[in-house]
Amino acid sequence: MRDAAPTTIYLKDYTPFGYLVDSVHLTFDLAPNATRVTSRIKFRPNPEATDRTFFLHGEELNLIRAAIDGEVITPEITAEGLTATVPDAPFIWEAVVEIDPANNTALEGLYMSNGMYCTQCEAEGFRKITYYPDRPDVMSTFTVRINGDLPVLLSNGNPSDKGEGWAEWVDPWPKPAYLFALVAGELIAHPGQFTTKSGRDVELNLWVRPGDEGKSAFGMEALKKSMKWDEDVYGREYDLDVFNIVAVDDFNMGAMENKGLNIFNSSAVLASPETSTDANFERIEAIIAHEYFHNWTGNRITCRDWFQLCLKEGLTVFRDAQFTSDMRSAPVKRIHDAIDLRARQFPEDNGPLSHPVRPESFQEINNFYTSTIYEKGAEVIGMLKCLVGDEAYSEALDLYFDRHDGQACTIEDWLQVFEETTGRDLSQFKRWYNQSGTPRVSVAEDWADGTYTLTLSQRTEPTPGQEDKQPQVIPVAVGLLGPNGDEVRVTKVLELTEAEQTFKFTGLAAKPVPSILRGFSAPVILEHDSTNAERAFLLAHDIDPFNRWQAGRSLAEDTLLRMITEEATPEADYLDGLLSVLRDETLDPAYRALMLGLPTQSELAAALHDKGITPDPMAIWRAAETLRQATAQHVQDLLPRLHSETLVDAPYQPDAEQSGKRALGSAALALTSRLDGGIKAAEEYAHANNMTQQLTSLSCLLRAGKGEAELAAFYDQWQHDRLVMDKWFALQVSMAGPETTVETASKLTEHPDFNWKNPNRFRALMGSLVGNHAGFHQTDGAGYALLADWLIRLDPVNPQTTARMCSAFQTWKRYDANRQALIRKQLNRIAETPGLSRDSTEMVSRILG
Ligand code: PHE
Ligand code: ZN
Repeated sequence: MRDAAPTTIYLKDYTPFGYLVDSVHLTFDLAPNATRVTSRIKFRPNPEATDRTFFLHGEELNLIRAAIDGEVITPEITAEGLTATVPDAPFIWEAVVEIDPANNTALEGLYMSNGMYCTQCEAEGFRKITYYPDRPDVMSTFTVRINGDLPVLLSNGNPSDKGEGWAEWVDPWPKPAYLFALVAGELIAHPGQFTTKSGRDVELNLWVRPGDEGKSAFGMEALKKSMKWDEDVYGREYDLDVFNIVAVDDFNMGAMENKGLNIFNSSAVLASPETSTDANFERIEAIIAHEYFHNWTGNRITCRDWFQLCLKEGLTVFRDAQFTSDMRSAPVKRIHDAIDLRARQFPEDNGPLSHPVRPESFQEINNFYTSTIYEKGAEVIGMLKCLVGDEAYSEALDLYFDRHDGQACTIEDWLQVFEETTGRDLSQFKRWYNQSGTPRVSVAEDWADGTYTLTLSQRTEPTPGQEDKQPQVIPVAVGLLGPNGDEVRVTKVLELTEAEQTFKFTGLAAKPVPSILRGFSAPVILEHDSTNAERAFLLAHDIDPFNRWQAGRSLAEDTLLRMITEEATPEADYLDGLLSVLRDETLDPAYRALMLGLPTQSELAAALHDKGITPDPMAIWRAAETLRQATAQHVQDLLPRLHSETLVDAPYQPDAEQSGKRALGSAALALTSRLDGGIKAAEEYAHANNMTQQLTSLSCLLRAGKGEAELAAFYDQWQHDRLVMDKWFALQVSMAGPETTVETASKLTEHPDFNWKNPNRFRALMGSLVGNHAGFHQTDGAGYALLADWLIRLDPVNPQTTARMCSAFQTWKRYDANRQALIRKQLNRIAETPGLSRDSTEMVSRILG
């Protein structure tokens, strides 16, 4: 059943629920098409609430029996839930419902994946399991009994009892329903053990399906490292006797932090050198940490309502980024994060889907698990830490954990602990939570009599629903370099709080070159018309690793934009600068590999649009190709050495050092392939003994228009492995030339292994289509039509994944009238699909504007 008229929910309308829940007791009688869920819930009137309506959420449930204090009742039932008359005193609610997990393709609530029962309750999935006040501010302890003829039966908390065909679990920590989880199936444990700093022994298990045993060791080690790190850095200890992680093949997102029972998309946890790339390993380590860290930031302290989602997500992303910086290379992590933010969050923040880090309204909360909430939410915390300093930050966090443990909180609670510990007024800073859009900071300079004057101005373009923007508090880290490249002023954080502000540096012997926004100290767009000579200077001398990389990036962007708009040839400043960086063996290989990256073609389209130029995707593609070719020629002599010196002889390790070397080696191989037509890549493919090498060499071959035999061999080799097959699908579409992208994608949709109901497989293909900028945006609109066809097909099966992919169209207004008309046609076609989900309806209508 689809909703007719979607309703909008507002933050300002928040009221507490009329009842408190003292305990929840659930019994599951598992059966694929008719699982019975029996609930016994203790309610009592909430003294802090005025509205005593007893409404319980419930969707797609077949109610068999309901009783209050043992007496059977007949509640009033709608598509959203039920209402009943209840006593004005504590009472016991009992219900029996029947659900159909085998036919649950939306992957929300209780569903089945390859014969395994599994749940996903965030944000509002619990209401598909039983009738309940399914809102995060209603917290309770849970006791769960699972009856099922399966060897492994798991739920939250600690195991309390079990027998043949049943198990019982008790979770002593009060939690909201979105953290409920149940898993049942034939699973194999990779066991582990951790002793907490106060001496509590915790039994760890990573559960996988038979056949995946060889892919669980890395995840287990990452878990132990995360547990240790959270103790060392945040003083946070684990609080149950067991911690379980389960890998599941069908999952809409990356992973889920259910209390004591994290459930992971198998792509976010399973790893082996033969089947996973270095990037996969790094992502898995980060996601394991992320979900584990949620135990405190999310579970022990949760969100009052879904408008506060960034309270747990922004903070937890920030914490996992700190973890990755500590485990690997901090500058490399920071650069990755900036690349990601620009590729994913900036387009969102500067288009029709723009919304504040704390939104004020929504129709479907699933549509707000965005990069703005997560990544910009984390950036906001980074700025706060930068402004108050490390010590005050950790004091504020201690207070936060102390004061709010066991509570469902708001952003106000969060900011309050900072105001109290620092005495600082954060009311202006709070605009980061309320105001959407990416601030643009522009730079003007002046030099006279030994004084360097920096004038910074900020402005934010209007975003949907927010015409007028107020100045925000922007920490701008600045250092100054003297003419010989030495630093003459060390990094200082300038606090830009007004629309325009001037900062003076006195007593300088010569006009300095500024290094602005060091470490990417704020998630803003820096508009600085510096010369390429200055950028080349910073690329050669800046001691801030982020800005040194940024200088190279700006040079690359500048030369690409000139190539596109003025038919310029590749800039020598860029090519020479790059060459000397690559030659500098004191620099970390991973860092040198990053230096070889180019802005994405979509980013270039945005940059052109910002300058008032309508981007032509083919012209952008040609410029990027030309620059790549020129780079290959320019650094040609260095390539054999870069490649051979980065070959790793030691047994494969997915650590920062080895993966950095492989990254540089791969970048060198990609350039080499542009010169030798793929000879070296073919050799490397033949000898590859890990997936990173196999995949890079294969992609070089495909880009060179070769590799047909290798592609077929790859298929034969990996046909049995779902996660590797995702790569096989993705690679072909990503590497296709602009004219063949859509055809390649379209052909692959007919492949017997295109299991489109599996979100990973769907995203591998369709996500790669969208990511291939020039291919997706071919002038005939075939890319748009192909994507729309599949979104329309997937929507009734899995609205959440469909809606997320609709954002492929969010940048449509950048392009020419012809492309806009073609995209509008597809958006309208999706919008007019009978029975379109609430999720997709909201997305398409926001994108259409
Ligand atoms: N809360 C999960 C995380 O960030 C993400 C998620 C959201 C997973 C909704 C599933 C559904 O770790
Ligand atoms: Zn999270």
